[in-house]
Amino acid sequence: MARNLLGIRHLTQDDIQELLSLSADFKLRILEKREVPNMSDQVVGMLFFENSTRTRVSFEQAAHYLKMKSANFSSGGSSMAKGETFSDTITTLRYERLNGLVIRHRASGSAALAARYFGGPVLNAGDGQHEHPTQALGDALTIIERKGELKGLQVSIVGDVEHSRVARSNAWLLSKMGAEVRFVGPRTLMPAHMQMLPGEVHYDLRSGIDGADVIICLRLQKERMADGMLSSITEYASMYQVNRESLRWANRDCIVMHPGPINRGVEVDDVAADGERSVINSQIENGIFVRMASLYWVFTSKAKSPDSPPPKLRVAKTVPAQPKTVARTAAKAKKAVAGSKKK
Ligand code: NCD
Repeated sequence: MARNLLGIRHLTQDDIQELLSLSADFKLRILEKREVPNMSDQVVGMLFFENSTRTRVSFEQAAHYLKMKSANFSSGGSSMAKGETFSDTITTLRYERLNGLVIRHRASGSAALAARYFGGPVLNAGDGQHEHPTQALGDALTIIERKGELKGLQVSIVGDVEHSRVARSNAWLLSKMGAEVRFVGPRTLMPAHMQMLPGEVHYDLRSGIDGADVIICLRLQKERMADGMLSSITEYASMYQVNRESLRWANRDCIVMHPGPINRGVEVDDVAADGERSVINSQIENGIFVRMASLYWVFTSKAKSPDSPPPKLRVAKTVPAQPKTVARTAAKAKKAVAGSKKK
């Protein structure tokens, strides 16, 4: 069965460790202009049904570094605009002989559904409010670079937790790796099932970021909000903005993160976004290397560091098998065409 990357929740500590080591290894290789695996025989479909800048470009950049080819797809320019169902579109891409898919979609669970219809490796680039595994991996790599390890760190995730797949994937990853997670925000932006997520809930910013080593700020995701979830943006900012003043409550060497896009002046001020504690640009850059690792990991099932040596890519396994009858019909057609040419 093909390996997928659908979420962090079901990964083991070893899986996460392996993905992070691969990411760090790829980063070094790229920075030192050393060789990376050549996956030029693989074609990956980039399916972005929702807007994206960072995630989309970094997946494309990752594929480019690995010399993979990509087939780009957005719902607007496709047969979905003509009424084709999600499952029929995914099945079509399977028979277009793509080797794997990267998918972003507004529905939670869509990546898992795509994996069912596609059959080959699928990577979740963000599905609704569910998970965004490669964002969490990039964030973890960024934290490790600054703090050495994840274990024992106090990490506060601040803002619109309810609508955030980033909050969920980060909370699963960080708690699995031994960090202490806190969710901070107004009651209306906390999921009703908070007890199912790994972390402590704080409704007050001061207690929520008190002594934090890492603050992950979340965007207010207005496109997913129902009316009445926020009384006013100004009030929200006055209570929950991470800024010059509120940063005093965190640890002195606390780092500030944000998955982007940022609403400047709402969840963060310029000091938090651009100051010396901000690692937002490193998050963006590391996004490329964790996506290289993720593509490599799903496409080469038993992935090991490229030094050990690179596992051989088996194209046939990731392409849906041609039923014998199809091969026979193709052979017959070939014969018939050859015959008609002779005449
Ligand atoms: C996030 C997303 O799309 O979930 N952004 C991203 O991938 N960099 C967060 C957001 O949109 O707020």
